[in-house]
Amino acid sequence: MRGSVRMPPFPRIRVIGAGTMGRGITQLAAGAGCTVELTDQSASAVDDGMAFVARMLQRSAAKGLSTPDEAEAAIGRIRTGVDPTAPSDEIDLVIEAVAERIDVKQRLFATLSGALPGAVLASNTSSLSITAIASVVADPSRVIGLHFFNPVPLMKIVEVVPGTRTSPDVLTAARAFVEHTGHTPVQAKDSPGFLVNLLGRGLPTEALAVLDEDVADVADIDRIVRDMLHLKMGPFELMDLSGLDVSHPVLESIWKGFYGDERLRPAGSTQVRVSAGLLGRKSGEGFYRYADGFPQVPS
Ligand code: NAI
Repeated sequence: MRGSVRMPPFPRIRVIGAGTMGRGITQLAAGAGCTVELTDQSASAVDDGMAFVARMLQRSAAKGLSTPDEAEAAIGRIRTGVDPTAPSDEIDLVIEAVAERIDVKQRLFATLSGALPGAVLASNTSSLSITAIASVVADPSRVIGLHFFNPVPLMKIVEVVPGTRTSPDVLTAARAFVEHTGHTPVQAKDSPGFLVNLLGRGLPTEALAVLDEDVADVADIDRIVRDMLHLKMGPFELMDLSGLDVSHPVLESIWKGFYGDERLRPAGSTQVRVSAGLLGRKSGEGFYRYADGFPQVPS
């Protein structure tokens, strides 16, 4: 955030979905000088999301990553709303971060198509087809995938995913936007899981199979993966951080996207956990139990 202020490629942004990802994207974009409308269908999600983003921006000033004035200015650039599809001609870019379901995303994009005729429409989907999402928009050339990772301010790579009909200008502008935020765009093909989740699916899929076969418990599998593969987090810690209601549909949609390839079949045990509300950090319990946000005893 320090340094001279440049006009962002998309100065006015609407974020739809004030959950894990929408909050992080809002923090990043407001910190980079954009005005941001943070919206959600749930009023409490918007309030919690705004409070979270404000806390994070103040914390980053306390750490010396920005000045207190810069943090306050970034907070002042954020507005909140509970009508994600409100018509406007003052939005340049929409970034959608709602549930990982093609029916939900298509319904939303179909409405945005008429409500925001001048905006680029981006989806933060982890695995769904950008071309399929764009198919409900009258002008699919303005739809693109912008796949941020969690936690957004720290994870510098952003997958930029053009659909079959995305215009080259939209692709160029989307890449410039990512660079403006200080992140690094990596172009990926519009195929199930794009690049990162397709490459990364092996570890959680295999770890779940090992757990289901009672070969080792959650904490041991995570410890082995962390120590032996030199990763910051084991697969269960990562699934708890992402949310099982997010990571399970992603594994499922990659599997379906490759026509049910047996190699990619997700474990049934995660679906059971989702049904039981064991979603990870966000619900206080997933593969681990959390007290004050820190993992305690494996469930
Ligand atoms: P989340 O469950 O934390 O938040 C989703 C928010 O969307 C909720 O506040 C919900 O009220 C809202 N919502 C649902 N349907 C809506 C609609 N039709 N209109 C307006 N608001 C609606 O989900 P999270 O984790 O932020 O994921 C969002 C998207 O980002 C998904 O597509 C996911 O695959 C993707 N993603 C998630 C990552 C993660 O680690 N959690 C990482 C990268 C991408």
